[in-house]
Amino acid sequence: MKKVHVAASTKEYDVTVGSGLDYGVLLKEVHAPCKLMVVSDDTVFSLYGEETLKSLREAGFETFHFVFEHGEKSKTLEVAEKLMIRMIEDGITKTDLLVALGGGVVGDLTGLVASIFLRGMEFVQFPTTLLAAVDSSVGGKTAVDLPNGKNMVGAFHQPIAVFCDTDKFRTLPEQTYAEGMAESIKYGIIYDAGLFEKIEKNEITDEDLVIRCVEIKAEVVAKDEFDKGPRHILNFGHTLGHAVETLSRYTIGHGQGVAIGMAVLSAAKLPGSEAKRVLSVLLDRKLPVKTEFELHELALQARADKKRHGDLIKVVLPVSVGEVVLKDVSVDEWEEIIREGTEKVSKIM
Ligand code: NAD
Ligand code: GLY
Repeated sequence: MKKVHVAASTKEYDVTVGSGLDYGVLLKEVHAPCKLMVVSDDTVFSLYGEETLKSLREAGFETFHFVFEHGEKSKTLEVAEKLMIRMIEDGITKTDLLVALGGGVVGDLTGLVASIFLRGMEFVQFPTTLLAAVDSSVGGKTAVDLPNGKNMVGAFHQPIAVFCDTDKFRTLPEQTYAEGMAESIKYGIIYDAGLFEKIEKNEITDEDLVIRCVEIKAEVVAKDEFDKGPRHILNFGHTLGHAVETLSRYTIGHGQGVAIGMAVLSAAKLPGSEAKRVLSVLLDRKLPVKTEFELHELALQARADKKRHGDLIKVVLPVSVGEVVLKDVSVDEWEEIIREGTEKVSKIM
């Protein structure tokens, strides 16, 4: 079991990573027993709900649970409202705790509710997907979607702790695991060529992968918790990825969208041999590297991106494996970049 410390400006906490974690024992070390609302989706709860509640009860917590249908389509204000109504019915107060047991959808929604319920309460993250472990459970971005855009209603609200049990990844469908790998590859491209190489050569364990990715995220978040500048690099592949996700009405998952975004931008901007490495590592993990959506439609979707200011969109462009730059581009320039990238992806493949 290893810990990574996150020193955000509003809160400091540890991310504990290991196999066979006892959530109750660990949580009691950071919070006195209280009422707990465990939030999960139906798939995760059927696998890990009962054992999680038991471990928390044995540690002295009084447990309640709220379970919603799995999938991005549940990341809505409507589900958040249902959760808050249930919290009032169950007598949850400001000094109690919310627990997110699940992937990024559960974590983002639970975190948002924690940030607004009774003007704010504390929450913890128990990520069960690789994607949530390496990315969404850490750093305090919380949100739900609107019909016309991803993560459009959200808040910055840090958890008080993250407990990542890598044993949970064993039940992940291959594609869901691969989507977490896409976010992990992202850290390699934006920050750490050595990490990229280890993933490329399959020379890293899940535990070490989560730790290295969380270390990178912690460094970036410590510099820019509120996403004013340096943190934008974590969005590499996301502007195009979010457009693909939204246009597909969420039938294409977040990690797949990010994989397409990273592949197209790498093809557009990296030297041929480096672009080929990015495409190969994504294809090895059976991740998609291109999309059938109209380029103009994809570019226009960027207007709904949170990184837009005026007519310009802030995008993250790769310089080499391990380094990216931020650039302001118009929607037309953005369309040209994704056109060039999409054409080159087809040639490289
Ligand atoms: P998810 O939560 O929908 O999980 C994917 C699927 O895996 C779901 O069907 C879920 O039921 C299932 N699942 C979860 N854990 C499982 C397990 N251990 N075994 C078997 N099945 C399991 O999605 P995700 O890919 O974890 O996360 C994507 C979401 O995260 C998106 O909404 C994205 O916007 C968000 N995100 C947020 C941040 C952030 O900083 N807040 C960063 C990246 C992504
Ligand atoms: N996943 C992007 C961020 O946390 O900033």
